[in-house]
Amino acid sequence: MDGTERYSYLPIDTPELLQEHYTEIQKTWWQTVTDAKFDLVVVHAGQAQLFFEDDHGPTFKANPHFLQWIPPEYAVAESCLVICPGKTTRLLFFQPSDYWHAVPMPPDHLSGHLEIRTFTTVADLHQHCTEQVEQLTKAPERVAFVGEPSCKTLLGKDWQQNPSSLIHRLNFARAAKTNYELAAMRNASIMGALGHRAAANCFSEGGSEFDVHMAFLNASEQNESELPYGNIVAQNHHAAFLHYQFQDRHTPTELNSLLIDAGGSYRGYASDITRTYVTAQSNAAHEAHAAFTSLLAEMRNHQDRLVNAVAPGGSYVELQQLMHEQLAEILTTHHILKCSAQEAFAHGLTEAFCPHGLGHLLGLQVHDVGGQQITESGELRPPPENYPALRFTRPISENMVLTVEPGLYFIPVLLEPYRNNHASFNWHLIDALCPFGGIRIEDNVRVLPTGIENLTRDAFTTIGYTDAHP
Ligand code: GLY
Ligand code: MN
Ligand code: MN
Repeated sequence: MDGTERYSYLPIDTPELLQEHYTEIQKTWWQTVTDAKFDLVVVHAGQAQLFFEDDHGPTFKANPHFLQWIPPEYAVAESCLVICPGKTTRLLFFQPSDYWHAVPMPPDHLSGHLEIRTFTTVADLHQHCTEQVEQLTKAPERVAFVGEPSCKTLLGKDWQQNPSSLIHRLNFARAAKTNYELAAMRNASIMGALGHRAAANCFSEGGSEFDVHMAFLNASEQNESELPYGNIVAQNHHAAFLHYQFQDRHTPTELNSLLIDAGGSYRGYASDITRTYVTAQSNAAHEAHAAFTSLLAEMRNHQDRLVNAVAPGGSYVELQQLMHEQLAEILTTHHILKCSAQEAFAHGLTEAFCPHGLGHLLGLQVHDVGGQQITESGELRPPPENYPALRFTRPISENMVLTVEPGLYFIPVLLEPYRNNHASFNWHLIDALCPFGGIRIEDNVRVLPTGIENLTRDAFTTIGYTDAHP
């Protein structure tokens, strides 16, 4: 493809995928509602917001529980779902008569799975919802409402708002993806791969952070508000800010490196992909350029080994530890730390070079819910004390989609406390590497009965990139 053709994504709205998805989620929701001792649940998409003292606001983003049933293209503010075990789920779709904004059509392709009613005013929609609820139960305290607390006008007096007995079970179940969700995430990965390929080309031609950002948007066919999260496009020392949020309009005179963490969103499901590049040559000291280039190659092997270690029944906390053990090897063999790898690991020195967790669950949310939840009733497993940023502590199981994203950064604020009191740090090399910022490599993997499906690598292959680490 030369970049002007449209890429055709994998078919997703097929009768088989939709049937299986709605059968699965309906089963989960019905069972959850029954187990939590409710008669039904009303899921509210949410309300459009305005900025303070302003007449416009952020792009509307629906409640993720709603998005599991209704893709974002149709997830109109004020719409809601009425889900009642044994009854067809009803979508109350809000379609105002509006000439300021275009109004989406109802999702008629889902009419085999949902009963769709359309309303042109919020008052009518609320009235219908209330009547519907009254027909389905005589016990308003057995009605659960899932949505933002601000939706006061719909909320029945005795309805239970976001009851934890229900939310915990739903969050827990969301980790295992249906085939439709997996297909959406494969497409989100293809969008991400297209964006990353264009970003890499732009960088190799000397593009600025802003140029790279725009190249990513264009190739992945997304505008900013459609991204699953704000692009992280960091050149040189900016890569040491884990969630760097700006885009410089000018390429630095000494261009050393690029870290780009950016993904695609397809039917509301995310990909979350990071790649790091080094310039073929830079004005930085030859020694530092050679060291960073070698570190980058080593980090790619490091990430490969971690991806290959993911397996059902495995412990992500152990993988987090393995990440630090391997990082200790890399830092010592590259003479960044002048002690043994065992000492570096045992004294936690690697933690100053990688303060984030190895990864997290992925799905409707980039940091998807339930990563630290070990039972459906909501019991949590906190991360180990020395890895407080680890978002994923529950056992790895089949059909989860998770990220594997080891990093190695030169972050002055974390390194500085060691400067005058630790003999193991090679400050000459560390100071020379700070202008390169850091390295992160991130893939998204689905857990299979044995081993994994690497959604990210497969997407790069699908678009014709054969290098395992484009
Ligand atoms: N893009 C944020 C993360 O990788 O977790
Ligand atoms: Mn990321
Ligand atoms: Mn991530």
